[in-house]
Amino acid sequence: MTSTPAPTTAGPLPWNQPLIGEEEIAEVVDTLRSGWLTHGPKATRLEHAVRDALSVDDAFAVSSCTAALHLAFLAAGIGDGDEVITPSLTFCAAPNALLREGARPVFVDVDPVTLNITPEAAEAAITPRTKGIAVMHYGGHMCDMQAFRALADQHGLLLIEDAAHALYASRDGLRAGSAGDLATYSFYANKVAAAGEGGVLAGRGDLLHQARLLGRHGIDSSAWQRHGKRNTADYEVVVPGLKYVMPDVTAAIAAVQYERLPDFTARRAAIAASYTQALTDLPGLTTPTVLPGVQHGWFLYPVLIDPADAPLDRDQTAATLLQRHQISTSVHFKPVHTLGPYRSLGDQTLPVTETAAARQLSLPCYPAMTDVHVDHVITAVRSLWT
Ligand SMILES: Cc1ncc(COP(=O)(O)O)c(C=O)c1O
Repeated sequence: MTSTPAPTTAGPLPWNQPLIGEEEIAEVVDTLRSGWLTHGPKATRLEHAVRDALSVDDAFAVSSCTAALHLAFLAAGIGDGDEVITPSLTFCAAPNALLREGARPVFVDVDPVTLNITPEAAEAAITPRTKGIAVMHYGGHMCDMQAFRALADQHGLLLIEDAAHALYASRDGLRAGSAGDLATYSFYANKVAAAGEGGVLAGRGDLLHQARLLGRHGIDSSAWQRHGKRNTADYEVVVPGLKYVMPDVTAAIAAVQYERLPDFTARRAAIAASYTQALTDLPGLTTPTVLPGVQHGWFLYPVLIDPADAPLDRDQTAATLLQRHQISTSVHFKPVHTLGPYRSLGDQTLPVTETAAARQLSLPCYPAMTDVHVDHVITAVRSLWT
């Protein structure tokens, strides 16, 4: 299969880059020629693939993971005064959606090894107002979902998985996205399956039924279902909804990328293994740990740089890799509790989150990289320690 050319040495090596092949291009052309551009047969193909892979009741292809998270909270009836336990070391999408609906994200600290929240920390944060737990599988390393499922059931809480990083990850035989009442995927341009934009909401049938309604204006049938009928205006608005569906042009790319995940993830894992082998002895640099029973999704290859033992701190390392070696990196994440609207939520001290956020650096790790690129990153990083 021909794919877009991997990055050249002419410009900086991007920290991430999609790998789009002829199959994705052919599917898009097929969609453009079909006369049906919005949510229709291609979106349905993606939905069935996700539903079957996760063995869940239903999956709904939407415009982004942010849309999926918003629909998840709406469908679950999470709103005014409700508390949802969630990490701060994440992207702002889930906390923003909660805050917009009048709910309060209750941030708990992460485990220093996996950078995921733990069932123990979540349990300690449960109050009478707690309505749910929204976990996030950091970088593609799954949380302990067996324990989270048991905790949610014990306290009658809703369990939501933000699986934006973990489309092809598993733990103890459980696929990411299969244990929650609801789970969300991202097909954003830099994700492990990239369609530019896009998301999927998967999970329980009753909640998905409500989410489908809410995601198509509250109308009781989809445009595709009404297509070809004599009177397409024959519909009812059941609830005041929004418009969050994934168009078929996007779904054409997403469906093919989703099918390529086994190959993509194997390549990501091989790059990660090369990095770990080559960088593990550097003082002050911690390579990621994969816990037993975990099949990592490797959206990120996150290292932690302790300025007390490393020659340069995280920001100096990133700047030197870019300026001297033409290698881009990224940081995941600015802790959400330190950002604008969250600072006023009250005293929140999350020491592990804050230390990790100051030390974390994501090295390039994606299937469009060649072995030459991987060696270049290894040599460049090691050169900072000599
Ligand atoms: C953990 C997490 N959740 C949600 C999102 C939002 O995804 P999208 O851009 O598809 O809305 C991101 C995006 O980076 C993310 O990292």
